Amino acid sequence: MRALVVGTGAREHALAWALARSPEVEEVLAAPGNPGIEAVGRCIEVDVSNPAAIASLADDLDADLTVVGPEAPLVAGAVDALEARGRAAFGPRAEAAKLEGSKSWMKHVLTGAGVPTARYAAFRAGEEERALAFLDTLPGLYVVKTDGLAAGKGVVVTESLPDARDTVRSYLSGAAFGDAGRTCVIEEGLTGPELSLLVLCDGSTDGVPLAPAQDFKRVGDGDTGPNTGGMGAYSPVPAADGAIVDEVMAKIIGPTLHALPVPYRGVLYAGLMLTPDGPKVIEYNVRFGDPECQAVIPRLRSDLATHAVEAASRRLTTPVEFGDDACVTVVMAAEGYPTNPRTGDAIDGLDAAAALGDDVLVFHAGTNRAPDGRIVTAGGRVLAVSAAGPSIGQARTRAYDAVGAISWPGAHYRRDIAAPHYVERRA
Ligand code: AMP
Ligand code: GLY
Repeated sequence: MRALVVGTGAREHALAWALARSPEVEEVLAAPGNPGIEAVGRCIEVDVSNPAAIASLADDLDADLTVVGPEAPLVAGAVDALEARGRAAFGPRAEAAKLEGSKSWMKHVLTGAGVPTARYAAFRAGEEERALAFLDTLPGLYVVKTDGLAAGKGVVVTESLPDARDTVRSYLSGAAFGDAGRTCVIEEGLTGPELSLLVLCDGSTDGVPLAPAQDFKRVGDGDTGPNTGGMGAYSPVPAADGAIVDEVMAKIIGPTLHALPVPYRGVLYAGLMLTPDGPKVIEYNVRFGDPECQAVIPRLRSDLATHAVEAASRRLTTPVEFGDDACVTVVMAAEGYPTNPRTGDAIDGLDAAAALGDDVLVFHAGTNRAPDGRIVTAGGRVLAVSAAGPSIGQARTRAYDAVGAISWPGAHYRRDIAAPHYVERRA
């Protein structure tokens, strides 16, 4: 089959890499893709914000399967447009993608279904006084989120009531995130280790979990500094044994899927906190996590293309299998990320990192090919460097070996991804 991956990041590179290894796939195409993806498939320009453009490209290419990577085209209806043309698509339709597109709707669905999640209230522009009064009722750690998509930057977690109040004002006025923030969700802060569980869904069964992963959201070592899209990940997660996954599937994923007004197909990403009272939902995303995908997919032993086609055709039957090895992913970011990343720096050492061995995978996130052929930085998160190993510790050593081989001016990354004190932490 001919498989088309929509998107441009390291997540899409990992998906394209896995599809290219599939015995079912003759050709991988990516739109728009990136220079890393060019090694496994042909990249074609497309306006990812335009569902009709995505669907007509899939038609032009005669794609048998289209995997839509990022949330924005899913929320905008890319899968609806593809399916309207009879094209198999992996991902939820717009109505189901609202789980990520509107946090207030997501919280409404969850509380209605009795799914454990943080206590919350949602407010619109003009309701500032009520919103500030609700903040006063919370015990301490304050969380304020934009209702709409904000590229992972719309969440503020703070112990400071004045900061929380300022955030609410800047969101509801539209000053911070425009319309995405004119409705905001305020919730109580939860504590505990975080867990990302990606679940394959075909709209009919209760979903099939992939191996759990843990993400590192803050930019700095020791979980300091602002939130980012994710600075690294590892899988498996010793703190999340089979019993926890079973509990999440039974008490969280199943009830959520059943409460949705429309069938959910694709991958459902549950961002969970393992609190002393049990796992609770922090957020749902309607796509693979980035960088979780880059730590989970290399461990998949069954065929991604088969699972994606089965999910798209409403019938997941092939068992999902993972290897016993571990995988650690370290994100290398550009100077100034997450606030104001610098772009255009030439990247050295990509070949040296790749030459370390088959256990090392360098996924491109924000890169470009300069006119002289060199690979240069083109975004905040530039590379996701994954390595496999028989243990998390060994995978971690290999990942940092590869990171050490790569450089560009101002490159930065966390030194403590998958460090033992995180890996051993339990709720
Ligand atoms: P989100 O984009 O909703 O995943 O939020 C980004 C990050 O903010 C999460 O990964 C958590 O680290 C943190 N966060 C979100 N909601 C809460 C909450 N209710 N309590 C504590 N931390 C939270
Ligand atoms: N790693 C967090 C996300 O994909 O949203």
